[in-house]
Amino acid sequence: MATHKLGIVMYGVTGRMGLNQHLVRSIVAIRKQGGVVLPNGDRVMPDPILVGRNADKVAALAREHGIERSTADLDAALKNPSDTVFFDAATTQMRADLLTRAIEAGKHIYCEKPIADSLEKAVAVAKLANSRKIKNGVVQDKLFLPGLRKIKELRDAGFFGRMLSVRGEFGYWVYEGDWGPPAQRPSWNYKKAEGGGIILDMLCHWRYVLDNLFGKVQAVSCLGATHIPSRVDEAGKTYKADADDAAYASFQLEGGVIAHMNSSWCVRVRRDDLVTFQVDGTHGSAVAGLTRCLTQSREDTPRPVWNPDVPQTMNFYDQWKEVPEKITYENGFKIQWEDFIRHVVAGTPWHHGLIEGVKGVQLAELGLKSWAERRWVDVPEIKI
Ligand SMILES: NC(=O)c1ccc[n+]([C@@H]2O[C@H](COP(=O)([O-])OP(=O)(O)OC[C@H]3O[C@@H](n4cnc5c(N)ncnc54)[C@H](O)[C@@H]3O)[C@@H](O)[C@H]2O)c1
Repeated sequence: MATHKLGIVMYGVTGRMGLNQHLVRSIVAIRKQGGVVLPNGDRVMPDPILVGRNADKVAALAREHGIERSTADLDAALKNPSDTVFFDAATTQMRADLLTRAIEAGKHIYCEKPIADSLEKAVAVAKLANSRKIKNGVVQDKLFLPGLRKIKELRDAGFFGRMLSVRGEFGYWVYEGDWGPPAQRPSWNYKKAEGGGIILDMLCHWRYVLDNLFGKVQAVSCLGATHIPSRVDEAGKTYKADADDAAYASFQLEGGVIAHMNSSWCVRVRRDDLVTFQVDGTHGSAVAGLTRCLTQSREDTPRPVWNPDVPQTMNFYDQWKEVPEKITYENGFKIQWEDFIRHVVAGTPWHHGLIEGVKGVQLAELGLKSWAERRWVDVPEIKI
């Protein structure tokens, strides 16, 4: 069986997502396991070139991970015909321009979400990709979370009966940086002018999660907030945080399911995980976190008693059963990378094209519109 090399220009790999999820847990892990196996038994070995503003920094990163190539010259990297894929995990604001340059250079592209900071730019990039007939994809990592894969399993098995509602809680406290610990997220996330804001960041995730697991999103009502108006950046400088840092959004889905997602960087966690989804159906309910999923069927549903005169006698957490682990769940970013590589090299099916990224940006933009106009907004079908 042959092993083929796949040259990948990787941009933004010094960042949180680029480094941890895409470089270390995906590409480096795939190289260590001996590549990606194709349907015909051949293997594909990713051969990345790390690109970044600071030549020394990307060179050191490459050395640390046993990667031979790095450069600060993106144009030169895009000109190399043997690197056929471009990947981007740099800031949201830069994405559409970077993708455009890479598509024009004839590369297949794969990128983080959101695919642009406006719907207009997202559509333009997706159209360009289609017209150049290059393979393309966007990260949809939440679909690969073990917790949500278990929800899908339950749904496919008919566990929920008629699905009624989905309530999701996402978030944790992001330090302001003005006392003790430094902020654990980049400062651009909190600045409008730099492509920040939790609505743009998270509603593109909720779009594909809702569309794929619970019903196509038909309408959105979103209230954003900037709870913390001033933060301290990476250099210790105080800045005005003018982007939304929390979003309280409701969605109407095809089939009548009602979803509500709270997304916040200003919330302290008292729940099973950093994101949880509770799904209620006529025949059963489930609550999924990142990895675990607990269920309560209609026959296990207790009869609680409302009595404020005595402390609660029931432990509601004990009334749920854990969905057993039946398979080993690999890192979701890695699974999606392997799928994309197979799609590029062997033309295998792929469900995460840029059009899905366009839908995500569409929902974020309509969420912002709903907030600005204080009303429900329909989500029209989008075609490229
Ligand atoms: N899929 C997910 O769950 C998920 C989670 C977090 C972030 N993201 C997305 O990943 C992307 C990166 O987010 P992050 O949190 O890793 O950000 P980050 O700030 O940690 O990383 C940004 C990267 O872009 C580079 N960069 C910044 N400004 C630049 C400039 N002017 N010129 C060249 N390079 C520049 C940085 O060096 C770094 O490599 C964002 O689009 C974000 O929406 C996705």
